[in-house]
Amino acid sequence: MKKLLIAAAAVTFAGAFGTATAADVEAGKAKFAVCAGCHGPTGAGNEALKYPKLAGRDAAYVMTQLKAFKSGTRDNATMKAMTAGLNDADMENVAAYIATLK
Ligand code: HEC
Repeated sequence: MKKLLIAAAAVTFAGAFGTATAADVEAGKAKFAVCAGCHGPTGAGNEALKYPKLAGRDAAYVMTQLKAFKSGTRDNATMKAMTAGLNDADMENVAAYIATLK
């Protein structure tokens, strides 16, 4: 039990450390799988269905928008639902991945 607690603490610390430094693009790519359903696998979006293009957006912009959707500052029911299950690290990772899409 004690070992388990230490392991959990180590994981928590690694997670916090990860957020403070570089975002994990590979983890972001995995998170993007669901986003791709609307925004497209290359982030090209879908004009007819009004899913905005994400390719070419920088990570800071995406991060700001995701936080705004989650908090409701930017009001959109679909994106609020999409961000509800994402924590800050998830959003940073997915934003870093989106920034790699051209
Ligand atoms: C069910 C369809 C759908 C899914 C799935 C979806 N989105 Fe969206 N997304 C939208 C729509 C619709 C908008 C436009 C919202 C608005 O008009 O404010 C949007 C807007 C955005 C924007 C703002 C773009 C801009 O130009 O300001 C970002 C960033 C974004 N989505 C990221 C994501 C991410 C990351 C995911 C996956 C976690 C995701 N979306 C999943 C439909 C979707």
